[in-house]
Amino acid sequence: MHKKLLIPGPTEVSQEILSEQTRPLIGHREKEFSQLYGGITEKIARFFELPSEIKPTITTSSGTLWFDIVGRSIVKQKALACVNGAFSLRCAETLKACGKQTDFLEVEWGKAVKPEMIAEKLDSGEYDTLTVCHNESSTGVRNPISDIGKMVRNKYPNVIYAIDAVSSMAGDKTLPQEIGCDIIFASTQKCFALPPGLAVALVNDKAIERAKEVPNRGTYTDMVDIFEFEKKNQTPFTPCIPLLYALNKRMDLLLEETYDKVYQRHLEMAQYTQQWAKKNFAMFSEAGYESVTVSCIKNTQGKNVKELNQKLAESGYMISNGYGKLAEKTFRIGHMGEWNLTGIKEVIGLIDEIWGLKT
Ligand SMILES: Cc1ncc(COP(=O)(O)O)c(C=O)c1O
Repeated sequence: MHKKLLIPGPTEVSQEILSEQTRPLIGHREKEFSQLYGGITEKIARFFELPSEIKPTITTSSGTLWFDIVGRSIVKQKALACVNGAFSLRCAETLKACGKQTDFLEVEWGKAVKPEMIAEKLDSGEYDTLTVCHNESSTGVRNPISDIGKMVRNKYPNVIYAIDAVSSMAGDKTLPQEIGCDIIFASTQKCFALPPGLAVALVNDKAIERAKEVPNRGTYTDMVDIFEFEKKNQTPFTPCIPLLYALNKRMDLLLEETYDKVYQRHLEMAQYTQQWAKKNFAMFSEAGYESVTVSCIKNTQGKNVKELNQKLAESGYMISNGYGKLAEKTFRIGHMGEWNLTGIKEVIGLIDEIWGLKT
């Protein structure tokens, strides 16, 4: 039986979206392609209300490519990478692997990174790049990216502020002009509810200008090249055209629902899940910093998540255990993409039945 995914990505994708991928292929240097691609980026710009100095782009990659793009094309001398979970750690390690000096600002997993912690480090004047993960899918922590943005813009205007919003963009609030960030990116298999294989990034002119000053940007990771091709509504290399058809349809649906309503729907699901979690278990994430798209729950009752998933599979659902070192201590429910409150209530009702929890 098909299991509907409530894991923190990939998430469930409707047949309507999947079917878009079966359209005939077109050449990626043809006018028809530029019309398709330019149409999608125009829809992305409209959905995220982008001013002209912030440009969308789509890479044929998962989100991790953008760790490398920041490492290769943005960091000039030294980066400050905030680390409070598995994905922000991977980002920090990637910047180092790109040969760039990187200091890790480490915060206990489950806790949020606060603006004052960052300010203390940036005050040294050593850093030209700052990375923060908005929504740490490993811990369910939602870092306060707008508060950080206000601080960075006021005090450190030359620092490029790059945000991993892989599991929050198109679900949670991620308008770059409100946040004050220079780069924000996401993978399509999360809140965009598409198959994996594309990343969407919103980048301002300041970051593109920075990239021009950075040598050895590589090939696939050359952000200057990416935005040169963007001017022609093309991509530097052959893109995954079937996924672009699907993204085109997804943007229509998101625009129809509207940015505010998409956020409200995700918030409702998060609040319901987290109230249930607090009644029966405890949240792993720091109070006040809980994710809107994935709830990471402390398994205080020592329940067997593997067995739960075997039973849930009989009804056609799947949740997730904890990530990495949190595997046995936590479990996660992804409520993103196409999910709504009715679906979440149904699955939580099933979990109550299987685990014999009080409702
Ligand atoms: C917050 C976060 N960052 C980065 C990644 C890596 O994204 P991808 O697998 O699309 O490369 C993930 C994947 O789950 C994630 O949740």
